[in-house]
Amino acid sequence: MTSLCLDVFFEKATPHDFLSVAALDRVVWQASAGGKYIPDGEHTWRIWCEHALTVVGKDSQGKVVAALLAFPCANQSYCLHKVMVAPSHQGQGMGAKLFDVLISELDRLGVDCFLTVSPSNTRALKLYRRYGFTKENFVQGFYRPEEDRLILIRQSVEMTTTR
Ligand SMILES: CC(C)(COP(=O)(O)OP(=O)(O)OC[C@H]1O[C@@H](n2cnc3c(N)ncnc32)[C@H](O)[C@@H]1OP(=O)(O)O)[C@@H](O)C(=O)NCCC(=O)NCCS
Repeated sequence: MTSLCLDVFFEKATPHDFLSVAALDRVVWQASAGGKYIPDGEHTWRIWCEHALTVVGKDSQGKVVAALLAFPCANQSYCLHKVMVAPSHQGQGMGAKLFDVLISELDRLGVDCFLTVSPSNTRALKLYRRYGFTKENFVQGFYRPEEDRLILIRQSVEMTTTR
């Protein structure tokens, strides 16, 4: 894929990034169905940038234009809770760059990871499947009765070879 935004670099977030990530979170979902329910508060992002696995993509001015968040669950697996690319940067390979960092961290930790996605989000689905989220479970009415969801799981590299 051709990347039109080569000046964006990707790294693990620090506490300094939380306000920028929270701001991105407020704009990215505006076009999505149910978008008003999706953004999280600044306190949450402050905690996640320090204590969870948060990856950010920053342009040459240091502006956060892409971010993802995965956090550990009680059963030791990770939940990939947010993946977002600024509307101006979508479709240019930014999602893939976020996943490059995510996957190397998951493999370093040796953990499974799961996510949920709308069955109609073809761009996101293509990305997730390409990065190994291949075990799928369809859940009808996941949020509200009309809102179905796919649960996708990527098994850790170690588990993949033994199961
Ligand atoms: C979903 C999202 C994170 C993907 O990031 P992105 O940077 O736009 O995606 P990429 O450019 O890395 O492309 C990912 C794949 O989708 C494909 N793709 C790009 N535009 C597409 C489109 N309009 N329809 C279908 N597939 C598309 C790409 O070709 C690529 O696949 P490939 O590498 O096999 O060619 C981003 O679009 C986004 O933030 N969307 C709004 C928020 C959202 O829906 N997040 C996911 C919630 S579960």
